Amino acid sequence: MPLEILGKMYEKANREYYAIGQFNFSNLEFLQSALDAAEEMKSPVIVALSTGAIKYGGIKNLVSMTRTMADQIKAPVALHLDHGANMDDVKMCVDAGFTSVMIDGSHHPLQENIALTRQAVEYAHSHGGITVEAELGRLGGIEDDVNVDERDARLTDPAEAVRFHAESGCDALAVAVGTSHGAYKFKGENKIDFDRIKVIKDKLRIPLVLHGASSVDADSVKMINQYGGKIEGAKGLDAESYAHAIKNGINKVNIDTDLRLKWTAVLRKLMHDKPGEFDPRKFLGPARDAVKELIKQKMKLLGSAGKA
Ligand code: G3H
Ligand code: 13P
Ligand code: ZN
Repeated sequence: MPLEILGKMYEKANREYYAIGQFNFSNLEFLQSALDAAEEMKSPVIVALSTGAIKYGGIKNLVSMTRTMADQIKAPVALHLDHGANMDDVKMCVDAGFTSVMIDGSHHPLQENIALTRQAVEYAHSHGGITVEAELGRLGGIEDDVNVDERDARLTDPAEAVRFHAESGCDALAVAVGTSHGAYKFKGENKIDFDRIKVIKDKLRIPLVLHGASSVDADSVKMINQYGGKIEGAKGLDAESYAHAIKNGINKVNIDTDLRLKWTAVLRKLMHDKPGEFDPRKFLGPARDAVKELIKQKMKLLGSAGKA
């Protein structure tokens, strides 16, 4: 079916307390993994492009590939801009056919973040009712040696979130609750402020988004290291964290690092095991299948499986 406006997918997820996975891509294979997983799991899916991915693959190529592939399946697919930095990014993606955009003004002072998000909302809503995700608070792990005041200054403030939403008109809000991007999220224990999610949800009642939500699967890291890689001290979210976050009001979970780790692990092993092989499909095909299986597992964990 044609690409779907993300806001439409959110209605049911928000009502029924499940989350839709956002899976980042920048090539054919990752996109196939996500869409095939969605079709097999009868799950809605969000595929996302960062500005780096757009630069890598070319916006027209990536959008037409996504449209063409989404048209061939029954599962609903939304195409989302991940971490847009300014109005040029937002306009470029809305004009190119994305069905959702993120404007990330989280590093700006509150008033500037509101003003930037407001502009993005006005543009996106008046061009086909495209959904807008904003971010408030700063992502980052909650370290043991950070005191309560320092921690609160970084994480999303519920009262500020109410004002931010009222004045910006954003459709969904990414909250800072202790997660961070990449493979090194926690030094010690896995710390996420789940209560904060619930407080914000009770006040806003809009879809909330968890960034930096990869699990950093130990088996992938082990395989990477076994076959010549060097990834040390990597740590991500455990499976219970998803359930806890979703129960408290998260409706979109962003996953990129886990896909990259799985892909790298499979490729490293295959290159080692098949020294005489040089057909790229013999490497990329199995890596694509492994990423698809991983996405299917995530869809079950997030509760989106069967919701298409
Ligand atoms: O949040 C960041 C995403 O993982 C995208 O990363 O900018 O390397 O494409 P990227
Ligand atoms: P991970 O690095 O944990 O996969 O997070 C990705 C993300 O938040 C993209 O916006
Ligand atoms: Zn992110």
